[in-house]
Amino acid sequence: MGVKIVETALRDGHQSLFATRMTTDEVLLGLKELDKAGYHAIEIWGGATFDSCLRFLNEDPWERLRKVRKVCKNTKLQMLFRGQNILGYRHYADDVVEKSIENGIDIIRIFDALNDIRNLECAVKATKKYAKKFGRGEAQIALSYTTSPVHTVEYYVELAKQVEAIGADSICIKDMAGVLLPQTAYDLITAIKKNTKLPVELHSHCTGGLMGMTYMRAIEAGVDIIDTALSPLAGGTSQPCTESVCYALQGTEYDPKLDMEQINIAAKKMESVRDKYLKSGLLKPKSLTVNPNILKYQVPGGMLSNLMNQLDAFGKLDKLDEVLQEVPNVRKDLGYPPLVTPLSQMVGTQAVQNVLNGERYKTSPKEIKEYLHGKYGKSPAPVDEDVRKKIIGDDPVITYRPADDLAPEFENLKKQYKGIAKSDEDVLSIALFGDVALKFINQRNEDAIPTKIKVEA
Ligand code: CO
Repeated sequence: MGVKIVETALRDGHQSLFATRMTTDEVLLGLKELDKAGYHAIEIWGGATFDSCLRFLNEDPWERLRKVRKVCKNTKLQMLFRGQNILGYRHYADDVVEKSIENGIDIIRIFDALNDIRNLECAVKATKKYAKKFGRGEAQIALSYTTSPVHTVEYYVELAKQVEAIGADSICIKDMAGVLLPQTAYDLITAIKKNTKLPVELHSHCTGGLMGMTYMRAIEAGVDIIDTALSPLAGGTSQPCTESVCYALQGTEYDPKLDMEQINIAAKKMESVRDKYLKSGLLKPKSLTVNPNILKYQVPGGMLSNLMNQLDAFGKLDKLDEVLQEVPNVRKDLGYPPLVTPLSQMVGTQAVQNVLNGERYKTSPKEIKEYLHGKYGKSPAPVDEDVRKKIIGDDPVITYRPADDLAPEFENLKKQYKGIAKSDEDVLSIALFGDVALKFINQRNEDAIPTKIKVEA
């Protein structure tokens, strides 16, 4: 059987290339054809999509999901889901998973920045529960891939065994920075396949220019599923191109056997979307080029441009090299967290402060303090205790699951926003995005009031 393909253009593609700004109409543009092409799944939804709908597009994210489900009759829909919410909402996993599956999601890809299994368990349990209720729903756990002295093949195999033990249906290597080397991918996938029975998927980005090679080695190692993006939204900071991967594998035992005619029609339609964002400037040509610096410094592309922006704001762009040398030191002090949202921003800001202050840890962002209190979960390696002491003194550090501290609030919010929230989905949007969701819902409610019919005098 050939390798299976997950189409990512409609989630990660536009998230990586132009800040998740595709509208629902644009998402629907080539969807009918993509649905006929024979994909394993189409990734369509995630935290950033949800946020961008409410914040920038004045669209109901739940409505997008329902519209997509209506068009996608044959193909599974996938969402990306952060296993634990640290914003102060305890039943996050349960409620979001229930409503997502109810409104059309089939595969929930759950990740945690620290790969703390305790932060993933609730979402897996919730997915299992609602899969039973709605007759669909799979729990996939994505392990954040990074390089460090502790992040060895053995480390990931150990994690993969735990992922299998808590009942996940499949496992994904999530290489958000695009730094997974071809041979490491081969070794990693071979070892995970040998030690678990789970289907293995690979998700990566072309940022460093490696991915054609890495995907091929992953396929040779027996990876079951790979993530690719339709050509207009592929390459650069996005995924490898779906069509190229399909053509490359034709005539081999790995041939995904997708319907290229349907895919080509969809791609043609999506060209106008790419061109629109190129013209508006949201899609920068630089995002479409290769950036080998991410391999040199082992930081994701988004983090690199963030650091440059931060330094530029202080007129200190000349300190970039110093900051990039400080990043690995901060990571080591914090127990080698993978550089994925939100930790990439946290580590980056700390490195900038250390360099600009001329003294390490003289000041620290609030989030770093919370991290050192244990509020993000368990660090991959122990934190440097001298650094912890310098930043939070003798404050108590929690070792239990951080979400246990959060208060349940769904019912309270439901009461509080009675009359404004028109559905449980509305309440959930408010729970997750607060004022941003409220502003959207109020506006939508106002628009729905029919204007009074003028009575002629
Ligand atoms: Co990604």
